[in-house]
Amino acid sequence: MIKIAPSVLSADFSKLGEEVKEAEKAGADLIHIDVMDGHFVPNITIGPLIVESIRKVSNLTLDVHLMIEEPDKFIEDFARAGADIISIHLEVSAHSHRSISYIKEQGVKVGISLNPATPLSSLDFILSEVDMVLLMSVNPGFGGQKFIPQVMDKIKILKGIIQNKGYNIDIEVDGGVNVNNAGDIKKAGADILVMGNAFFHSKNYAEVVRKVREQSG
Ligand code: DX5
Ligand code: ZN
Repeated sequence: MIKIAPSVLSADFSKLGEEVKEAEKAGADLIHIDVMDGHFVPNITIGPLIVESIRKVSNLTLDVHLMIEEPDKFIEDFARAGADIISIHLEVSAHSHRSISYIKEQGVKVGISLNPATPLSSLDFILSEVDMVLLMSVNPGFGGQKFIPQVMDKIKILKGIIQNKGYNIDIEVDGGVNVNNAGDIKKAGADILVMGNAFFHSKNYAEVVRKVREQSG
């Protein structure tokens, strides 16, 4: 069954705890937390302190997406704050193999994230080391952008590679996912759908979950 990861970037931060609890009640599978540093992406968002607060109110898997330069400096802080999965961007890490080992040492699952224009071939020699590949379907930095259609083929190709190798790796798709395109994205091979605006800006979270599941199983 497809997993749904609401992105708290689109939640109402004045009542973040309640928002997370409501997402959990509505049937979300993970909570996606976007960490931005104002360098790698043109926006600043969340630090470990917020992750720690979310950890206190939810037992769901905390899926921390680091859109930051020098991620190695902060991996331990986010792991300690309660992250269950930490994803780093391949574009920022000249030594991604080392960063992956570092995340594993913290006892946390490893995700590798690729911007829309970053080729899948950049994963060639590290794919066997990761638990999840996070494919960006918008240019990272903001919620509420439009899904970039070329990413659909990227999902299909990556799914084929993972299946051929027999790896147990989830494909997470992040950016512009909504109830109308969720079915096609799932069909292309996604295992986890991140939903920011389409989830938290809707009136009824459970209805979003129901519609996505109806379309994509
Ligand atoms: C974008 C973030 C996304 C964002 C998705 O840089 O990585 O996780 O919250 O938001 P929507 O679903 O609104 O595109
Ligand atoms: Zn994200």
